[in-house]
Amino acid sequence: MSTTLLIDDIGELTTHDESLAPETGGRLRDAAVIVEGDRIAWVGPAADAPAADERFDAAGRALLPGWVDSHTHMVFGGDRTAEFEARMAGQSYAAGGINVTVQATRAASDAQLGANLERLVSEARRGGTTTLETKTGYGLDVENEVRSARIAAEHADAVTFLGAHLVPAGADPAEYLDLVCGPMLDAVAPLVSAVDVFCETGAFDGAASARVLEAAAAKGLATRVHGNQLEHGPGARLAVEHGALSVDHLAFLDDADVEALAGSWSGGRRGTVATVLPACDLSTRMPLAPARRLVDSGAVVAIASNCNPGTSYTNSMNFCVATAVLQMRLTVQEAVRAATLGGAIALGMHEDGWTSPSGKVHGAVGVIRPGACADLQLLDAPSVTHLAYRPGMPLTAAVWRGGKRVV
Ligand code: NIG
Repeated sequence: MSTTLLIDDIGELTTHDESLAPETGGRLRDAAVIVEGDRIAWVGPAADAPAADERFDAAGRALLPGWVDSHTHMVFGGDRTAEFEARMAGQSYAAGGINVTVQATRAASDAQLGANLERLVSEARRGGTTTLETKTGYGLDVENEVRSARIAAEHADAVTFLGAHLVPAGADPAEYLDLVCGPMLDAVAPLVSAVDVFCETGAFDGAASARVLEAAAAKGLATRVHGNQLEHGPGARLAVEHGALSVDHLAFLDDADVEALAGSWSGGRRGTVATVLPACDLSTRMPLAPARRLVDSGAVVAIASNCNPGTSYTNSMNFCVATAVLQMRLTVQEAVRAATLGGAIALGMHEDGWTSPSGKVHGAVGVIRPGACADLQLLDAPSVTHLAYRPGMPLTAAVWRGGKRVV
């Protein structure tokens, strides 16, 4: 039997399990959690907690699920500081900047790409992120997309193939699309769990994006879409029509898009998660995605960092949550839910029994309840409200991933 750990004297416990506290949507005061191996074994009032082998005193602070960052691009070489400076001086963001990182990524060694990714993952863990997706998309040829997926799989919890990020400089668009949907997808498929496409002017139009989504589905892979980032386009609707797990960015939505996203969950169906990326919206000086409207409409919303060298060079989920509250007008509870359970739903990891590409069966992530994965973060604060009330402060006090203390 595994050692048991009692996390005791939790001032505020955010579980997202309404059966534990129906009136507060699963938020408990004066609570305790017992971890056994890599799973949660018990959750309830501290006064009722059974004995355990070890005890951690939370000293009245707030415990919540670790962040689930469902959208990052962290396999890359090079740097785009100059592009950021130009943007802050008034230039606008364009998809073409991706090619700068493609050149630098192709030129980087495996060791350099791996070390950069490891640095970013370790930064994210220190910030409370316990589950992390990352994408390929800066290789854009078969060799470099496979290399990116392999390196990603060594460090990330979920890997997404984004060969359809941009038509690389000098390539013919039709030939490149054939490559992405054919030999490139074949080569990368064993290493990834989903396929993504950047559906936007300057990247892939609606028809090309639909072809990528169909090719992925034919391979049995889940799908995601980057959509409605720089202008209104077909991305959100296309994602819903193709049953994508998520559509991400969403700064430019009309009423029909919002309705389609919310409606995708009707009748108990698995729908498409609307993932908003507040740090990206700020860093590109684009309008903020209408997260308030999405939540009010009944859409399932996730918040992710979109950490990448071009549009959002941060993996701080604390910052994203604070921005979602202060600027996008979500409540703190809504933002925390979107950055934990929302991300887990976007990755298909929110129910016990999901299987990783290695074949390992896992407990649910993004929630705290018996049977779920023991991915937890403790804030140096009495409640999650402090994430927005004290923006920018180092609030991450401790992090457990799969039951092991990592921070
Ligand atoms: O999600 N939108 C497309 N891809 C990234 C940006 C990549 C880049 O500029 O390097 C994003 O923002």
